[in-house]
Amino acid sequence: MSTNVNLFSPVKLGSLELPNRIVMAPLTRNRAAAGNVPTEMNATYYTQRASAGLIISEATQVSPQGQGYPNTPGIHSQEQVAGWRLVTDAVHAHGGRIFLQLWHVGRISHPSLQPGGELPVAPSAIAPEGDASTLEGPKPYVTPRALETAEIPGIVEDYRKGAENALAAGFDGVEIHSANGYLLDQFLQNGTNKRTDEYGGSIENRARLLMEVTEAVVGVWGGERVGVRLSPSGTFNSMSDSNPGALFSYVAAALNRFNLAYLHLVDPRTDNHNTVENHTQGFPVGYFRPIFNGTLITAGGYDLELGNAVLASGDADLVAYGRLYIANPDLPERFAANAALNKPDRDTFYGGDEKGYIDYPSLELQTA
Ligand code: FNR
Repeated sequence: MSTNVNLFSPVKLGSLELPNRIVMAPLTRNRAAAGNVPTEMNATYYTQRASAGLIISEATQVSPQGQGYPNTPGIHSQEQVAGWRLVTDAVHAHGGRIFLQLWHVGRISHPSLQPGGELPVAPSAIAPEGDASTLEGPKPYVTPRALETAEIPGIVEDYRKGAENALAAGFDGVEIHSANGYLLDQFLQNGTNKRTDEYGGSIENRARLLMEVTEAVVGVWGGERVGVRLSPSGTFNSMSDSNPGALFSYVAAALNRFNLAYLHLVDPRTDNHNTVENHTQGFPVGYFRPIFNGTLITAGGYDLELGNAVLASGDADLVAYGRLYIANPDLPERFAANAALNKPDRDTFYGGDEKGYIDYPSLELQTA
């Protein structure tokens, strides 16, 4: 089904009116202050990007146990709520809208980042390949501890509290991070979930935690202010499933009952966070159109032309941009003017100071 819609067509997202369909993708930048508290510098960064139809915040841990990288912000303490308030107030003052991405990393962590130096938790005791990012640099991932069935209500409660804190911090909604190999994705996929209780085995069982978390978060916000992110084609963080088509079709269909603001899908064209490899295999956003009854956001390797094309095809309703948003705070204005784009500097993606964070020039500055 082709449409006349393009990136500049206004759209309703749940109960929000967005002036365009350009979304700032969630982007971890590791620049929170001590206590994993957002700062004025973080507020400046998001405010520079307030002309996006919607900003989705960097992934934000719902509990100390949910942290997997240094200096990522949290949403579990009052100081963090106050820090995020700086961000939401500034974004709103500049006419923008911002959702918080709720995160628990599961096994993608390291004892040095965990409360009491404990093992990270996961559905099953299976270590990912590669190195964790720690305060002392890369260290091999450890084998995580499998969560006891009795601990799972506590995890759901952490998400619920995170959602409540996001409301108190002035966000416009929340996105549940169930993508890219973090805790909820670890439960979904059977390469990482070998459980024999009601959270493992069948697809329905593996999807149970995501459904319980979604129900809890929707209980706080209402479905129209909640999105869910999935990466059905991703292998990042050592992920695999024996039948991802069946799994993610089930999940997308099961989410229909919540009347969510949107489902956000990471496109197969990006194999992981940092490369675009034009994969033809996997599950592009259009695969989910007949399955999910609501708004679809797609992300991964889009530019102006590809973004307009996926909207015109009718496969997606909005397009999220990651790396282009790191380097181009005024991405909608640049797209509208068909202007040249700044190139993102990979060395300053994760951690550091203002450099590579709030010093990418706007078009206005460049042409002044
Ligand atoms: C990411 N990505 C990401 N995804 C997510 O769901 N939560 C996050 O916090 C992050 N963090 C993050 C940091 C950095 C530096 C990069 C480059 C990526 C993935 C991101 O949202 C997006 O899906 C990918 O970047 C692909 O889109 P682009 O960059 O090709 O437009």
